[in-house]
Amino acid sequence: MLQPSGRKSLLALCVLAACALSTVESYVCTQCFLDECGTDKQTTCEASHGCFSNKQEYNTSGQPSSLLELKGCSPSTCVPLSFSATLGKEMTFAFGRQCCEGPQCNQGEAQAPQKSSDSNGITCHACYSETDIACTTAPLTCTGAETKCVEVIGTGVDTSPGGNMLVRFGMGCATETACNLKGEIVLGSLKINTYCVDPISGSRLLTPILSSTLTGLFLLKVLL
Ligand SMILES: *[C@@H]1O[C@H](CO)[C@@H](O)[C@H](O)[C@H]1NC(C)=O
Repeated sequence: MLQPSGRKSLLALCVLAACALSTVESYVCTQCFLDECGTDKQTTCEASHGCFSNKQEYNTSGQPSSLLELKGCSPSTCVPLSFSATLGKEMTFAFGRQCCEGPQCNQGEAQAPQKSSDSNGITCHACYSETDIACTTAPLTCTGAETKCVEVIGTGVDTSPGGNMLVRFGMGCATETACNLKGEIVLGSLKINTYCVDPISGSRLLTPILSSTLTGLFLLKVLL
């Protein structure tokens, strides 16, 4: 028989052990990049961050459609994201990131949203440039779930030895989920910021957070 104090310390030890087990709990996820995704490699994830699978599909005019698939452990808390955009006539893009927790949970194929060709009655100013942070717009009829007008600015450095600066600018139609992306990495190295714009004027709309801050400031002024 254990003395009461012995029992207590045994209990403490068990609590500690359970605690240690739950904090260092980890599992194996699939990690792959591009064409490796057929030959699934394994990697160990920290349970608290989870695993992701990401599919990016883009078509630029005159080129065969391109696919980018990524899987691995999420470096920080995994946030699911799904959006698509059509920038001018030259660039269509679809992005899907799924998050999951548990051994090999990201083994299956990642999903990106499907494009529709059915007009949805919205028209946006649209253009696409790979040289400048501006372009001359033409009206674009939006389709499917792309009911918002957006402006997209992308910057990055390419993988050439010199590391050339990359610039992308586009306006067009997008899903609502593409409205306020800040620093999202797409196509391997391009960091994008996106803004919803007014369909008529093409100027940026206030984000809900900014407009509620402004409303708050206004109320404060009225109250003081
Ligand atoms: C790219 O083009 C292919 C073939 O026409 C089509 O099936 C796919 O939906 C397009 N993807 C995007 C993101 O536009």
